[in-house]
Formats: sequence, C-alpha cells, structure tokens
Amino acid sequence: MSTLTKADIEALGKRAERMIGELALISAERGRLVRLFLSPEHRMAADLTGRWMKEAGLHVSEDALGTVRGRWGEAPRLLIGSHLDSVIDAGKYDGPLGVVGGILAAEHFIRRGQKPSFGIDVLAFGDEEGSRFPSVLSTSATMAGHFDPATLDLADAKGVTYRRALEAYGKNPAEVSRTAYAPGEAAAYVEMHIEQGPVLEKEGEPLGVVTGIVGQSRLRVSVEGVAGHAGTVPMNLRKDALVGAAEMVLAVERIARAHAGDRMVGTVGRIEALPGAVNIIPARATFTIDLRAMTDRVRRDALMEIKAEAWRIVEARGLQVTFEPFLDTQTTPMDSKLQAALAEAIKGLGHRPIAIPSGAGHDAQMMARLCPSAMLFVRCRGGVSHNPAEYASPHDMGTAIAALIGFIERFAP
Ligand code: GLV
Ligand code: MN
Ligand code: MN
Repeated sequence: MSTLTKADIEALGKRAERMIGELALISAERGRLVRLFLSPEHRMAADLTGRWMKEAGLHVSEDALGTVRGRWGEAPRLLIGSHLDSVIDAGKYDGPLGVVGGILAAEHFIRRGQKPSFGIDVLAFGDEEGSRFPSVLSTSATMAGHFDPATLDLADAKGVTYRRALEAYGKNPAEVSRTAYAPGEAAAYVEMHIEQGPVLEKEGEPLGVVTGIVGQSRLRVSVEGVAGHAGTVPMNLRKDALVGAAEMVLAVERIARAHAGDRMVGTVGRIEALPGAVNIIPARATFTIDLRAMTDRVRRDALMEIKAEAWRIVEARGLQVTFEPFLDTQTTPMDSKLQAALAEAIKGLGHRPIAIPSGAGHDAQMMARLCPSAMLFVRCRGGVSHNPAEYASPHDMGTAIAALIGFIERFAP
C-alpha cells in the first residue's frame, strides 16, 4: 500500500497547481480563459499535456477527435481522464484537474517501477463543455463507441462545421468511428473533478464520491412575432416575440423550482432578440433551455410542461414557437463497487468520503456506456465554478491525487 507522506501529498498538490496554472495560460483571449474544442488553443493544450505524459513515462497518442492518450501497460486497462476544453471565461480547474491528476498518479507508479496487473490510459478529452459546437461530450462518447455521425454537420457560431474544424485540426473525419475501445479492453474509468458545488465545503471534507450524474435536456427555442415601430404600435396591438420569450423564461424557472425535490434546475443561458434595435418591436427571439434532474421521467415530464406553457403563451399573444432539442442525456448512476473502492481510498487517508450526486455533466457519463465508471470530487472554494474565481487548494488536490493512487493500488479488473 501507498507510503505517501504528508510532504509527498503537499508536493503532488503543488505540482498539480503549477501544471493547471500553465494550462490556464493557454487561452484564445487575453484576460479571460477561453479554450474551445479543436481551436489553436486546444492544440497547444493537447501538446503540453502530451509532453507531460511523455515525461511521466507514458506512451502518447491521439485519436481522430484529438483526445490525447497516455498509455502504460497492457489491457485490460484502467482509464483515468477528464477534459481540456473550457467554457467562455472559465475557471482553470474544471477539466485540467482530472487530466493532471491522472498523469501525476500514473507517474507515481511508473517512477517506482510498480507495474499493476492492468494497464493505465490517461485521457484528455476535448469536447466536454459544448462551448463551441452544440455537441457536448462527443469525444468521450466516441471513445465509448457512441459517435453520432450527424455531429459532423453541426456548426459553431461562425458557421464552421465540426467536420471542417476536425480537418483544420489535422484529423480525418472518416477515422472517427475507429477510435472506440474494443469491448473488454477497458476495465473501468475513473475521473477526478472539482465539485463545482458547495457540499464538500459545508461538510468540511476535501473529497467526495459521486453517486450519479444528472440527466440533461438542452434545446433552442424560437419565438416568432411581428416587427413594428416602437413609437407607433399601441401596446395592445403588438406581437412582441421577446416579451413572449420573457414569459417563457419565467415559466422555466417556475417549473424547475416546482421539482426542486428531484434536484431539478432550469437555466436560460442565452437569449437574442431580432432585429435587435432600440426602436423596433422584436420580430424574433431565440433562447436556450438547459434542464436537469436526477430522474429522467421527471425531467422529460417537466419539459412537456414547459412546452405546454410556451404554447399557451404564444396562443395568448398571437406568436409562434418552435423547439429544437440538441441534447438529451440520461441520468447515469456511477458503479457501486468503484464508489466503494474510492471511499476506501479516501478513508485510508484519514478523511470521511462524502457521497454526492453530480448536477454537472461529465465525460464519466459517456464512459459509463463503455465500462464501470466512477468519479472523485474535490472541494472547491465557495462551490464556485464556470467562473474565473473557481479555486481548489493545492492541499485538497494533493489529497485527491493520493486518493486516486490509493484507488489504483486497490483496483483489480
Ligand atoms: C458541464 O460543465 C455542464 O454544463 O454540466
Ligand atoms: Mn468539467
Ligand atoms: Mn464545466
């Protein structure tokens, strides 16, 4: 079993902090972190990650979607990973912590020449956030053998398709279907990630074990009205698309709140009014809905409720509405044996493992379709994430890597 001292754990945390800091410098914008899938910044982050993997003693390769893989030993393999892409104006820990943690944990065994009876693959995915294309988790879905070919035709905000972006990244879209693991090759997947919520901080504990990952629906809603002169059309004769959309936004909030018991959350994160002028009644409003809950049936019923409410609103206002779903992921329970093994590893470090359901989506959700999967959560300050103020302490990160090492020591495929 591990002979990690307090000083070793502190050193691991400091190294993680340094590496995460280095990755955070790779951004498309000055002053804020923006690292999108298949962008020049993705390329730089992937190259840096590949260099670290090589230095750790891993054999580095890249798949047809740009996922970086650091390999050690033979199948069956324990897969350890997370993602390099970011949201717009991101924090630096969401994703990189799991990649860096995987590299440092693998390096621990390689340096000591302690080869386990299974192989280790460290994976750095590129499309977890869905910040560029409406295609969340496509890189892990592909590794798990679930690539949807329609994804190749999705376009980003500038009209560049996924296919073109892949080609510009030097990849061959025809090879995408060949990147999945063969059945039986992957023994398990484990992902370390910041909690992105306040539970661990409230419990006064650095580490948690994820019980399951929330199911999500995402859709684009378009409301059509009639443009008109802001000064001449009386209020009772307007068909204002934006006001109709505003009522729908409030309905999303109301319906999500009504299902709080099922941990439902509903967010309208983007809204646009057209033609978008100060003196024109909006003819068109488009917005997104992100709806999540721990029970798929409850989420899908709530979505029907939201649609029914939208139809009632357009009927009353003489508008029209259309819905365009672009994501529907199921709630994914994490493997119970792996959860128990992570909990043991945490206890082995003298900590109390906290069981937490994840309200955020993660690559583990897709990898669970390939092999038993589990997640280790790390306390983050104030529960803040998707925000540049995101922070995990080097001490907590070192403890998490030590727990991952303890988990690897206990793992038997
Ligand atoms: C990914 O971070 C998500 O939106 O859950
Ligand atoms: Mn993430
Ligand atoms: Mn995220």
